[in-house]
Amino acid sequence: MSSSPPRPPGRRRLFVTTALPYANGPFHIGHIMEYIQADVWVRFQRMQGHEVHFVCADDTHGAPIMLKAEAEGVTPEELVGRIAATRPKHLAGFHISFDHWHSTDSPENVELSQDIFRKLRDRVPSLVTTRPVEQFYDPVKAMFLPDRYIKGECPKCAAKDQYGDACEVCGAVYAPTELRNPYSTISGATPVRKSSEHYFFRLSDPACVEFLREWTQGGRLQPEVANKALEWLAGDAGMADWDISRDAPYFGIEIPDAPGKYFYVWLDAPIGYLASLKAHLAHLGADFATFLAGEDVDQYHFIGKDIVYFHTLFWPAMLKFAGAPYKVPDNVFVHGFITFSGEKMSKSRGTGVSPDVYLDLGLNPEWLRYYLAAKLNARVEDIDFNPDDFLARVNSDLVGKYVNIASRAANFVTRHFDGHLTTAWEAPEERLLQTLRDAQPAIARAYADREFGKAVREIMRLADLVNQYVDAEKPWELAKAMATGGGFRERLHQICSVSLNAFFLLTKYLAPILPATAERVSTFLNENALDWDNVRLLSHCKAYEHLITRIDPRAIDALLAGPKAAAQTPAGGVAPEPAAAEIGIDDFARVDLRIARIVAAEHVEGAAKLLQLTLDVGEGRHRTVFAGIKSAYRPEDLVGRLTPMVANLAPRKMKFGLSEGMVLAASGDGPGIFLLAPDAGAQPGMRVK
Ligand code: 2FM
Ligand code: ZN
Repeated sequence: MSSSPPRPPGRRRLFVTTALPYANGPFHIGHIMEYIQADVWVRFQRMQGHEVHFVCADDTHGAPIMLKAEAEGVTPEELVGRIAATRPKHLAGFHISFDHWHSTDSPENVELSQDIFRKLRDRVPSLVTTRPVEQFYDPVKAMFLPDRYIKGECPKCAAKDQYGDACEVCGAVYAPTELRNPYSTISGATPVRKSSEHYFFRLSDPACVEFLREWTQGGRLQPEVANKALEWLAGDAGMADWDISRDAPYFGIEIPDAPGKYFYVWLDAPIGYLASLKAHLAHLGADFATFLAGEDVDQYHFIGKDIVYFHTLFWPAMLKFAGAPYKVPDNVFVHGFITFSGEKMSKSRGTGVSPDVYLDLGLNPEWLRYYLAAKLNARVEDIDFNPDDFLARVNSDLVGKYVNIASRAANFVTRHFDGHLTTAWEAPEERLLQTLRDAQPAIARAYADREFGKAVREIMRLADLVNQYVDAEKPWELAKAMATGGGFRERLHQICSVSLNAFFLLTKYLAPILPATAERVSTFLNENALDWDNVRLLSHCKAYEHLITRIDPRAIDALLAGPKAAAQTPAGGVAPEPAAAEIGIDDFARVDLRIARIVAAEHVEGAAKLLQLTLDVGEGRHRTVFAGIKSAYRPEDLVGRLTPMVANLAPRKMKFGLSEGMVLAASGDGPGIFLLAPDAGAQPGMRVK
């Protein structure tokens, strides 16, 4: 039974999620933007007194993670565990207040995925069917090949090395089976066609289509999302059935009563929302089914525009037809992408903002929260991170308008009034405060509707009013004139007291966006700024300490310079080592770079820096290479890894033996040696060019 006490009328219980990130890499800025959007909303709802359960998890299953782990010589569980260990730094770093972070590779998710499948199959037999599917199969690797692991010649323009879905040269779109001379990017083998039995979720079932029309067109979704869903539902081809099974080997959850078959990762991923909720409720001592049955419970998912299909069609349908205890989502909130100065952020080209670098440089997370919130709205629009705009916006709004009010007033109050505030002010002061109070419902509405940009504009309009008031009253002149008597002292007291009360209201309004500042202000002004209904007047203030500092342009330079700069002194403007003298492509082609698998690694007696590596370069024999990477790697961590090597370097006789090549690693002026690794699919012996 749920152990929570009865809630006052109008208070709800909100189950809120963000999309589950794939557990094959650290967060990028797109994840952080989504988490900030959801976090601002969730913090606002908590301030309203609602009981919020804000959860997420790592999305762990599927072929890419399985193959990446294999390429690194680790188990998928180890890979996923290593990524999971990086999460807390970013979540805490950007003040993302998840109540729980889970994993889709968890007992809860196995249980719930299998339960949902069984319920679908048994309760609505027409929804789950099986039929044979013919697909490309890698006879060497003994696995069916997902499209992205098949390449070949474009059937239209004959360009080589094109992916199985579309040609990057002529733009033709086709099925992988149409490629000429196809090959598996995993083993290089020619794939063969092979048939196997697959499970399908029949989205085309009339009951399902009818439900989805109702659910998507009932007015809950954002208009552009509802329209998109309608296009899919009403499309000429009708709804395609969804292939929900994959054959072993697969890193996933087994399908009940179907040996060797696994759920496709996209089936168990959203169920991960529920797995995370279930684990979270267990920590609270509450029951999952009882919770979901609550009439006062709402279920909301924040997602990006690329995964709308899954969340507005498959996911509600799965939940609806699985039936109790599952509950259909109340809404799905879709956002656009984040671009960088108008361009798509690209990790490969090194453009954009890395959350890791941002935190390593010690930049204030609330700068980013504020900047993104100011740009976010309830529509499915991309938002742009522009460095100049970021600096200008934060410095002028947060520091110039908001913090400025407190710093000006608090210094006078501590210096001349021993930190005590008065409430005996005049009509203009009362009117100013009333204007700020009157804005509260509109600001609340904007937050509730995810119109954060609108909320921010309104709050800054109020900050402008307060600054205009202070500029007109000139407290600094009153402070000078105070010695002459004449009521100046009392007036100064009134102006500063009103300014601080106004500042407190602005802080309350900004608290969902600036939670750390709101905490500090609560201490500084002796009053809780996190209680939306708090209307008490202030009586006291402590000595002013900096709440938010300005962004130094050099910090932005360092942010954009990337990880290397972050490892150096913050904002230090480190110049990268200049490139070596130019060479021609022929010079480069003389270097024969190959992929090698490290089959053994050992310490070398008497060598402080070297490890002895035994490499498989696909030659039917092994090579020995001595590498100066001992300071950075433990031998046991290297075994099984793939790395590029120079295969035609003249063998070198060393004190410890013959070295037959060289492995490649990155290093800079700072500490650290970083061995290179190819993407999943590379094999020993492959040429690097
Ligand atoms: O697109 C993605 O990054 C997926 N990992 C999102 C999954 S959301 C939910 F379904 F789990
Ligand atoms: Zn082509």
